[in-house]
Amino acid sequence: MPEFTVNRRSLLLAGLGAAGAGLLAACSDSPAPPLVDPSGSPVARAEAARGGTGRERPVTVTATADTVDLGGGTTARTWTFGALPGTPVRTTAGDTLVATLNNHLPDPTSLHWHGLALRNDMDGVPPVTMRPVAPGGSFTYRFVTDRPGTYWFHPHVGVQLDRGLYAPLIVEDPREPLGYDEEWVVVLDDWLDGVTGTPDQAFAELRKGMGGGGSGGHDMGGHSMPGNGNGNGNGSDNVKGGGAGSFMLMGATSALLGGDAGDVRHPHHLVNGRIAADPEVYRSAPGRRVRLRIVNAGADTAYRLALGGHRLTVTHTDGFPVRHEEVDALLVGMGERYDVLVTLQDGVFPLTALAEGKDAAGRALVRTGAGEAPAAAFRPAELNGRILAATDLRAAEEAGLPKRTPDRIHRIELTGGMAKYDWALNGRPFDMADPAARPFLVGGGERVRLEFVNRTDMWHPMHLHGHTFQVGDDGPRKDTVIVLPGRTVVCEFEADNPGQWMTHCHNAYHGEAGMMGLLAYRA
Ligand code: C2O
Ligand code: CU
Repeated sequence: MPEFTVNRRSLLLAGLGAAGAGLLAACSDSPAPPLVDPSGSPVARAEAARGGTGRERPVTVTATADTVDLGGGTTARTWTFGALPGTPVRTTAGDTLVATLNNHLPDPTSLHWHGLALRNDMDGVPPVTMRPVAPGGSFTYRFVTDRPGTYWFHPHVGVQLDRGLYAPLIVEDPREPLGYDEEWVVVLDDWLDGVTGTPDQAFAELRKGMGGGGSGGHDMGGHSMPGNGNGNGNGSDNVKGGGAGSFMLMGATSALLGGDAGDVRHPHHLVNGRIAADPEVYRSAPGRRVRLRIVNAGADTAYRLALGGHRLTVTHTDGFPVRHEEVDALLVGMGERYDVLVTLQDGVFPLTALAEGKDAAGRALVRTGAGEAPAAAFRPAELNGRILAATDLRAAEEAGLPKRTPDRIHRIELTGGMAKYDWALNGRPFDMADPAARPFLVGGGERVRLEFVNRTDMWHPMHLHGHTFQVGDDGPRKDTVIVLPGRTVVCEFEADNPGQWMTHCHNAYHGEAGMMGLLAYRA
């Protein structure tokens, strides 16, 4: 059986650029046990066991430098997959996705298929599961998509996620149990790239910590609201000032998030790539039943989402069915997805994504009849109605895990803070140059319990690759779960997908600073 014992430091540093350097923690002091290799035979066996239809679904994804039109005359230089958001990729459960990534960017990149229990060597995490795809290079991902649901994909290199590099991945159910007339994919995103600078510049400022940001001007009042007309043309001035304290956000607070809501000043909040002043308009007819597939592709923002004049019936989170709940608004952390059903009324309605704790919002409009659209700053009353977060949900019967005593418990403390920007797991910032130094070990077939213990003053959306855990005793099956400050979230999963998998905070900046770990199967 192949073993993963080489030191991959040299391979890595080639691809990672500046972001990974400088965080080098203590080197591994004890020899790591042999781990399942991402391209080893247990991985191939797990893939074979997925079976599938054998039908191939070929797609090409080209990552490229691009100018995007965010609406209202606002444009931004950024990196995309050819559109913002990227065109949704659709497969039917059981099909094999054959996705060729062409890298036309100046930096190495990859594709990570967020939420899928896929074969480990297709997970897209350089240097753990693959080499980064070099500029000018390409790589073909090939794996069975065996679980229906709402997923998405993005690079797993540095803070590229905070560019425009994201797209939905919808795995359709050939025996879809829900009844609805149409479907609307809704992608939420906080935006700075090409407006106030680049995500790399933002990260460089943030990692200096709170003392390093320069002038004290980054209070709430200092950032531009979407739609007030300053979005166009001021990008290049701000880019020059990018190192001087323009990125850190102070004073964003939210009761729903238990305090500090976010670290990073994003001048725009987008729904399907548009600012609130010039939104996407979804046209339909009264009485139509629509399935919304909602993805938060943001880097640092939880969204409180509501559709004015409507209640939402929540049917899924992170691709898995839940017991249906009627709500007015949903709290969606970075990386989380929700599917909801809604029966449309007659008129024009705002789908408002409040940037939780940040006094700003993105929106789209639903139009089923005549009428004036509400003003961009209008906030539907539903935002303050019954607000639901994932921990309020229960798994649908078929989605719950059978009760089983855990074979292994990993207590994972979320640590660090803004002062030193030393976000980490168990007090140790992750070292992408030596990823297997301190793995959370699991054995194939085990029931594993993860206890995410938040020791920080901030909330974190914690994500696990390659598996979906069940939250609590009868909570939803998820791959990304919000852990509030001072709280512990316990979740369990079946170790049925051998390989080496990241677990990390889906705040792009926290993850890059070191709030990441490797969960690895023993060979
Ligand atoms: Cu959305 Cu590690 O990923
Ligand atoms: Cu975090």
